[in-house]
Amino acid sequence: MIKHLKVPDSEAQESKEFLESIDALNSDFLPIKKEGFVLWPLNFAVEGEIVECQGLVTKRSSRDYRNRLSPEIRKLAPRAFDIFGDIAIIRLPDELSESSDSIAQALLDSNSNISKVALDLGVGGQYRLRKLELIGGEPGFVSVHKENGLTFKLDISRVYFSPRLAMERQRISELVDSGEKILDAFAGAAPFSVTLARRGCRVTAVDANPDSEKWAHDNFRLNHIPVSDYRFICSRIEDAAADLDYYDRIIMNNPTKSLSYVDLLSPLVRPGGYIHLYCMAPKDGSLDVMENFGSEFECTRTREVHPYSPSTSLMVFDIKRAISNVQSGNQ
Ligand SMILES: C[S@@+](CC[C@H](N)C(=O)[O-])C[C@H]1O[C@@H](n2cnc3c(N)ncnc32)[C@H](O)[C@@H]1O
Repeated sequence: MIKHLKVPDSEAQESKEFLESIDALNSDFLPIKKEGFVLWPLNFAVEGEIVECQGLVTKRSSRDYRNRLSPEIRKLAPRAFDIFGDIAIIRLPDELSESSDSIAQALLDSNSNISKVALDLGVGGQYRLRKLELIGGEPGFVSVHKENGLTFKLDISRVYFSPRLAMERQRISELVDSGEKILDAFAGAAPFSVTLARRGCRVTAVDANPDSEKWAHDNFRLNHIPVSDYRFICSRIEDAAADLDYYDRIIMNNPTKSLSYVDLLSPLVRPGGYIHLYCMAPKDGSLDVMENFGSEFECTRTREVHPYSPSTSLMVFDIKRAISNVQSGNQ
C-alpha cells in the first residue's frame, strides 16, 4: 500500500510542485485521478489528508530503496524516512540494528539526492535536539534544505528542524498580511520567522539554544531578509518577556511545553490577533486547550499537523483574541 496526498483538482498543480520541491513525490507511481480530486503518491508522509491505497506503478524501474535489500530485511524496513537537504533520516526497528549498513547503502544507491544517512534515535532535552547516528556517507550533519522556495542551512544534530512542518509554514504564510508584527517564541533556526519575514512581516524570533541563533542569522541572510526586518533574541522566552511588545500573531511551536507558556504569552497578542499553538494531543480529541485561555480568546481552527504516535498527534490550534475586549495600553 502506498501513501497518497489527497487534494482537490483546484490544488493539484500547486501540491505537485510543493511535493517535488521537498522530494516527497514518489516517481515510481502515477497520480490517481478521481472525480474532483487527485491522489499524489508519496515517498514519505507529509501534512494533509493521507490516503493509503494500491499505487499505480510507473514503467520506470523502482526507486524504492527496499528493492535493493534482501527479502528478510526488506519486510521489516520502513518505507518512510525524512529528508533534510542531502541527509536521509530514518528510524529502524530493533530487529534491524545489525542491518543498518545495508539499509544505508540501499538508500544512497536508490536516490542520487541523498549523500548521507542518519539513524534517528529520537528528540529530547530543552533544545529538542534529535539524537542522530551516521550509518552511511560522509560525516557531519550540516546540510542545505529547500522548502517552499526558501533555503535553510543548519546542523540538524544541534538545532531542531522538522521537514514535516513545510505545509504548515506555507499555511501560516498564506494567513498573514504584509507588515504584521510576529513573535516566533520558540524559533529554532527560524524557519517560521524567515517564511513570514519573506511575506513582509516584522519578526521577533526567540530561542534559548545558542546554536539556533547562529543558524537563524544565516537563514535570514540566505533568504535575503535585511537585519532591519527581524530581531533574534537568544534567551529563554520567560527571561525575554520584559523585552517583548504586543504582536499581531504569535507562533508557539514547542509542542511538548507550549501550554505552560500560554499565561506568559497570550497577553502579548493584540486584540484581533492570533496565536498559533502547536501541541501534542490525544487523537480522541480529549484535550481542551481553551481551558488555558481567558474568555476573550476563541479557537477558530484545529488541525492535525501529523500523527506522532498511535494515540497522539501534533495538532495546531489557531486562537483569536476578540476585538471587543480592547484594553487600554495593550497596543
Ligand atoms: C520544537 S522546536 C521548534 C523550532 C522551530 N519553531 C521550528 O519549527 O523548527 C522548539 C524550540 O524551542 C526552543 N526552546 C525550548 N524551551 C525554550 C524556552 N523556554 N524559551 C525559548 N526557546 C525555547 C528549543 O531550543 C527549540 O529550538
